[in-house]
Formats: sequence, structure tokens, C-alpha cells
Amino acid sequence: MTDYRSLNSALAGLIDGVPHKIANLANASALLWQMLEDINWAGFYLMEEGKLVLGPFQGKPACIEIPLGKGVCGTAAAEKKTQLVRDVHTFPGHIACDCASNSEIVVPIIADGEVRGVLDIDSPSVGRFTEADREGLEAFVRILEKAKVC
Ligand code: SME
Repeated sequence: MTDYRSLNSALAGLIDGVPHKIANLANASALLWQMLEDINWAGFYLMEEGKLVLGPFQGKPACIEIPLGKGVCGTAAAEKKTQLVRDVHTFPGHIACDCASNSEIVVPIIADGEVRGVLDIDSPSVGRFTEADREGLEAFVRILEKAKVC
């Protein structure tokens, strides 16, 4: 199980006083990659002209644009709600960037009521993400929102 207290305090320390958005998101994805077990992709898609566009990440190269409402990421952005997907093969319209992915969690990043992007994490294991991960990763995103990273 991930120690989200340590992870989230590491994130807060890493981005404290750093005014560079891309640098902060790059370090945030590196931290997730280092501290979460059993994942094969961790990173961000950022809202640009009504679409989600690939941002800083760790893992294999991924699809560049995701329309709002499409896939797990586009659904999280359209609904402004975390998507915790036990088995991506049962999610209608799931976009497969890495065929090793079997489960996924996507948390929207919101500022002033608007979706600015999403945090996306994939795992090769079905059912990898739990309610504890949802809680911990939503807290992780709240830290990014407070720091106005996007
Ligand atoms: N699976 C995502 C696409 C992004 S990759 O997982 C990195 C989706 O369905 O939106």
C-alpha cells in the first residue's frame, strides 16, 4: 500500500516556491513513478482549446490528444469526477495507449470551477487502485491545484 502521507508531503516540499508549471508537473509524475508500485504509466493531460493534450509523464509514449468525454481521461474531465476503473477492458471507449494497462485511475485538476487537466495513472494489474488510492491521489491533486500548476 502506498504511504500517501509521505508521498503528498514529498510533493508539497518539491513544488514549494517553484514558479515553473511544467517543472512541477514533471517532478510530480516522477514522484508517482518512484513511489507507487505496480504501475506502467503516470502523468498528466492538460486542457488546451477544449481538448486534453499530453503533458509531463513517465512511462511509454502515449496518445497526444484526447477529446472531452472520450476515454477514461476525457470522461473524468467532462464529469469533473475521479474515474476509478477496475478493468479498462470493460470501460466503454477506453483509449489503449499501452496494451499492458489493465486498470486505471484518473483525477481531474480543477481551478476556478474549470477543468485544467487530469492526472492519469495506469497499472498492468486488474483492480490495482482502491478507495485509499482515490483518497490519496485526490489529496495529491489538491496540492497541485493549490500551487496553481495548470
Ligand atoms: N487510457 C486513457 C488514455 C491515456 S493513457 O492511459 C496514457 C483513456 O482512456 O483516456
